[in-house]
Amino acid sequence: MNEAILLVGGKGTRLQPLTLSRPKPMVSVAGVPFLAHLVARARAAGIERLVMATSYLPETFRAYFGDGSAFGLRLEYVTETEPLGTGGAIRNAARLLTGGPDSPVAVLNGDILSGTDISLLVERHRAADADVTLHLTRVDDPRAYGLVPTGPDGRVLRFLEKPTTAADIVTDQINAGCYVFRRSVIDSIPAGRPVSVERETFPALLASNARVLGITDDAYWLDLGTPEALVRGSADLVLGRVASPALPGPCGEALLLEGARVAPDATVAGGSTIGPGATVHSGAHVSGSILLDGAVVEAGAVVRDSVIGAGAVIGAGTVLDCAVIGDRARVGSGNELRTGLRLWNGAVLAPDSVRFSPDPRTSIPAQSGVQHAAAL
Ligand code: GDD
Ligand code: MG
Repeated sequence: MNEAILLVGGKGTRLQPLTLSRPKPMVSVAGVPFLAHLVARARAAGIERLVMATSYLPETFRAYFGDGSAFGLRLEYVTETEPLGTGGAIRNAARLLTGGPDSPVAVLNGDILSGTDISLLVERHRAADADVTLHLTRVDDPRAYGLVPTGPDGRVLRFLEKPTTAADIVTDQINAGCYVFRRSVIDSIPAGRPVSVERETFPALLASNARVLGITDDAYWLDLGTPEALVRGSADLVLGRVASPALPGPCGEALLLEGARVAPDATVAGGSTIGPGATVHSGAHVSGSILLDGAVVEAGAVVRDSVIGAGAVIGAGTVLDCAVIGDRARVGSGNELRTGLRLWNGAVLAPDSVRFSPDPRTSIPAQSGVQHAAAL
């Protein structure tokens, strides 16, 4: 039986307000909760049993995925009363594994969009008789990740999680958030307390000379933890730059879900997703963006690289770039917001109140209106 653990307990703080009402892996990406892409990918790699390690808003996962039968595999759930960190979550979820001490267990971060074939990692792990095998990828700026230098034989030399000193930036090779563990290694992680697999478990395994293997490839890879990455990943799925068995329609410039309406003279492009019941009115342009259920883009508005929350309304003629607009929020007509505005769920921005680029960190809380907008 091929088994895996999915780490889905994070709070997704960087994606607020989208993650106030749903956990990060349940945010809609290319028409389905992101996790549906990940589950489909695991299934395609031959995973038959998957344990979801939940913590934040745990009930939302079971409500969507149930026992997994609709997704072609068996799903189990464990919930941490207090978040146990990545290592603690893996240890806690292992209670529900059925394999013996030498069985390989795949472990996946719940926010990674990747084209890597997990079954190849498992094969290489078995062939090398490794204790842990890590999928690695290369990025331009590795500082926000776990740095993982390897030797010529692929053995991992060090694990440096989010290093803060320049001397520790020793490689552009990073932990891609997908591992294969020997079951007995998981059972040796301390139980009942928070453990970081990146800061504690991996360094300890290396110090004890365990066989930790790194496999680097150049497959598509993106951590969807920020709004910019979320819209990029969604657009890449819609455009077909990375394949997903869970994409609910054909690849193309835009994915229109059931009940979506686009006026004949509006344009939807760049891998946009127009969610169920969402409307794009006459002359509007939507590109590289996600419109969630029932969102409305009024006539002549321009929405680029943004997420528009469920039931939110973008007023006529308004221009939005890289924005995250919360559920049911309203951006009045005639505004121009070019750098990463976040509007909280239910917040209202009055018409004609912003005509220049606010600070990228600007966010407007719920119940704000003209005054806040003027203050910008
Ligand atoms: N169950 C549970 N409990 N899950 C957790 C917890 C917890 O306490 N904390 C984090 N997770 C889950 C998150 O939901 C996410 O799927 C995964 O663990 C990784 O957490 P992130 O918060 O997304 O970490 P990161 O992106 O900053 O860094 C990690 O991923 C990088 C690759 O994207 C690290 O593993 C880095 O080493 C790695 O390079
Ligand atoms: Mg992440």
